Amino acid sequence: MPRNALTALPQPIFNEGSITPDPTQFKTKHPSDTKLYDQIQDLLTKDVVSFSPSRLPNNQLFSLQQALGVHGPEMVKNIKSAGKIIFHSTGDTGASNEGKYGNELRVADQLTADCQTSDQVNRPAFLYQLGDVVYDFGESRYYYDQFYDPYRNYPAPIFAIPGNHDSFVVPNTPAGSFPLEIFQRNFCARQPTITPEAGSLHRTAMTQPGVYFTLDAPFVRIIGLFSNALEDPGVISSENNKWKTVPNYQLDFLTAQLNLIKKEKYNGAVILAMHHPPFSYSPAAGAQGTGGNHPSSPDMLRDIDTICKAQGVYPHAVLSGHAHNYQRFSRMVQFGSKTYEVPFIICGDGGHNVNQLVQATKGQPAQEPDYGADVSYMDQKPAITSKGLILKHYDDQNYGYLRITVDAESLKIGFNQVGKNSIPQSRTDLVTVDLASHSVVGN
Ligand SMILES: [Fe+2]
Repeated sequence: MPRNALTALPQPIFNEGSITPDPTQFKTKHPSDTKLYDQIQDLLTKDVVSFSPSRLPNNQLFSLQQALGVHGPEMVKNIKSAGKIIFHSTGDTGASNEGKYGNELRVADQLTADCQTSDQVNRPAFLYQLGDVVYDFGESRYYYDQFYDPYRNYPAPIFAIPGNHDSFVVPNTPAGSFPLEIFQRNFCARQPTITPEAGSLHRTAMTQPGVYFTLDAPFVRIIGLFSNALEDPGVISSENNKWKTVPNYQLDFLTAQLNLIKKEKYNGAVILAMHHPPFSYSPAAGAQGTGGNHPSSPDMLRDIDTICKAQGVYPHAVLSGHAHNYQRFSRMVQFGSKTYEVPFIICGDGGHNVNQLVQATKGQPAQEPDYGADVSYMDQKPAITSKGLILKHYDDQNYGYLRITVDAESLKIGFNQVGKNSIPQSRTDLVTVDLASHSVVGN
């Protein structure tokens, strides 16, 4: 029976009733973006966007239970009885041309297969997408091919923070078609709704309260921030009026959320997520080659550090996307009388592309760093006492995703490669953070 687009449903739907084969081509043709990029290149470093405040007050949480609908209480009870929660995270999933589509589909298929083949205790509860869902710039007509169809069989909620590709406004975009509005229709709906972007599929829009929000799940809170529309750097505030159109809502929000953690003596894992990475590898001055496509965002990190310092709360880990590879840093920060070791992880290889960490320059071959390289020179403007930054691990050859496990004592973040064929998942890195001490156990 035909249904009306945008009809609110009483309950969320996460997947189709039966498994169908992968598409072999886009439903909507995606022309080459070369011309568009020629036109907008200079705007990508200056055209930030404004956005609406969250529907929730700054000190409120959006719960996994709420997102799950009527089955929420039972599913949350099961997670609590299992003594742990498992979830997925990856970024930059959208394929901007058909040549890339197979990569996106392989990642989506492997995430889906992980849910289907894991027993109940080990089944991931949701996917947290780290931004850049739809390329090139969040057009309504590409949502089906780049999001709904690849994830049609993923049987769990998908949360997302917008990336630059979900928010940059191409000049002459008509009113009502701004990418952030379309993102909000599909991820920040007031009720479960099948949107026009879903076409004939049934996944309902996610009901996040805004483009920044705290997801409260058993054992973990994920504070997600919107790092705006620039190619680089990430921007979460006006930075003292440097970016006049960017509201400062997120500074108050982050302050309120960290304050809540402190007041409640919350003892679960605290993860901070934003699309643009605070740290992204670049060689030291004088070394061969240059950094990859996307650099660090030191001013954004300064905003975050300043609030963490004022509230006396630091996250257990920071997740980002944007750079199309996997990078894991350990940042040592002096916090009160203790030293915390905080993983800063990039997982921006969810389907769009995989880029090398270092690019060759002036005929000199790129010199890739060793695991464990001291890159403290990258911590340029710390607003807290930084005691060092180490590049612990990276993968700039494979697509992949994070599989994260949190229990009452620890946060474990594993990186899983997605190979060129549909082979079983293969974990190639793992970091374990002890929640009470903010120390990394093992490696
Ligand atoms: Fe991005």
